[in-house]
Amino acid sequence: MQFNVALLGFGNVGRALAELIMRKRDTLRETYDLDVRVVGISTGRHGKVIDEDGLDLAAALETWRAGGSLAEMGQGRAVETNEQFIAECPADLVFETIPTNPESGQPALDYARAILSRGIHYVTANKGPVAFGYRELRALAAQNDVGFFFESTVMDGGPVLSVGREGLPTLQVNRIRGIFNSTTNYILTRMEEDGLTFDEALRKAQEIGIAETDPTLDIDGWDAAIKTVIVANVIMGADLRPADVNREGIRGLALEEVRAAEADGQRIRLMCMAERTDTGEVRATVRPERVPIGSVLAGIKGTTGIVEFETDVLPRLTILEHDPGPPTTAYGMLADMINLARGRHRDGVVLR
Ligand SMILES: NC(=O)c1ccc[n+]([C@@H]2O[C@H](COP(=O)([O-])OP(=O)(O)OC[C@H]3O[C@@H](n4cnc5c(N)ncnc54)[C@H](OP(=O)(O)O)[C@@H]3O)[C@@H](O)[C@H]2O)c1
Repeated sequence: MQFNVALLGFGNVGRALAELIMRKRDTLRETYDLDVRVVGISTGRHGKVIDEDGLDLAAALETWRAGGSLAEMGQGRAVETNEQFIAECPADLVFETIPTNPESGQPALDYARAILSRGIHYVTANKGPVAFGYRELRALAAQNDVGFFFESTVMDGGPVLSVGREGLPTLQVNRIRGIFNSTTNYILTRMEEDGLTFDEALRKAQEIGIAETDPTLDIDGWDAAIKTVIVANVIMGADLRPADVNREGIRGLALEEVRAAEADGQRIRLMCMAERTDTGEVRATVRPERVPIGSVLAGIKGTTGIVEFETDVLPRLTILEHDPGPPTTAYGMLADMINLARGRHRDGVVLR
């Protein structure tokens, strides 16, 4: 089956996805009967191009590396705006990887609406549209008989949402706990292992490219809160927004507190939790917590992530993901594509 895809965003994740599509081309064809053709790429500052006949991905990557514009690489036709790109691109699926807006999910939320309304599958790694528009976009996708999948928004492509969605049929998920923010976990690990102060550990995270120049989203717990909202809404049927999360970050955590915890046989971790209360409501919290040194949670170091599901039958199921990054995030998107091409969005279990 010929499957036409478009890339809205061609940054770290978008390019990793282009590389993965090239690397897995034969497997996709032989095992999944998918002949994937990239018919459009849209960027912020590196041009926007549509080519019905399929773009040469290696040439697109080369153009990007050379600092050129994709609109001028001698293939297809240039378009000016994302609205035009979405309206005219002959894609079966759009992969969206533009920056996350933690305050409103925009403009990606509007792009998602336009993509799904055109009857095109929408796969995103961007947490914004999911945290702010999950129910609406899910309904819009169903109305147009297409899919809206976003595996890569939590734990960078590890199969967390698909396990919650499809791997736990009939179970009641009572609690989801995890460490979802790798920057803060990296900072805590450097404080524990290297004796760095919070500011020194943050600088180190910035030097190696894990933390942004403005680290607010990570250290104040917003990124963790957004991911907690996604798992709560998608897997536990909640209807929360990031502002509903009882949130505390680790900004300015004193090295003495890390040492005091250690002296008590504990480590500090920025824990994310969504929990069903006695009244059936789902409450979400993000806050630094002490965990016993010998526990699995204390063993989560650096950028590793973890999620634990507690259900009415399986007492505790844990998924751990080591070394996340753009390639793992791209993998979650590729897996979403395969599931959509197989029609998994029509399975009732997908929608809670
Ligand atoms: N990096 C990860 O490992 C990771 C993991 C999980 C989720 N995510 C999420 O995935 C998304 C992408 O992350 P990334 O690391 O790839 O970011 P990135 O390197 O900053 O790339 C963002 C891309 O979006 C483009 N862009 C920006 N504004 C745009 C607009 N209005 N229209 C079209 N394109 C636009 C940029 O183009 P120009 O560069 O030409 O301006 C660039 O190609 C983010 O939402 C992030 O939160 C990332």
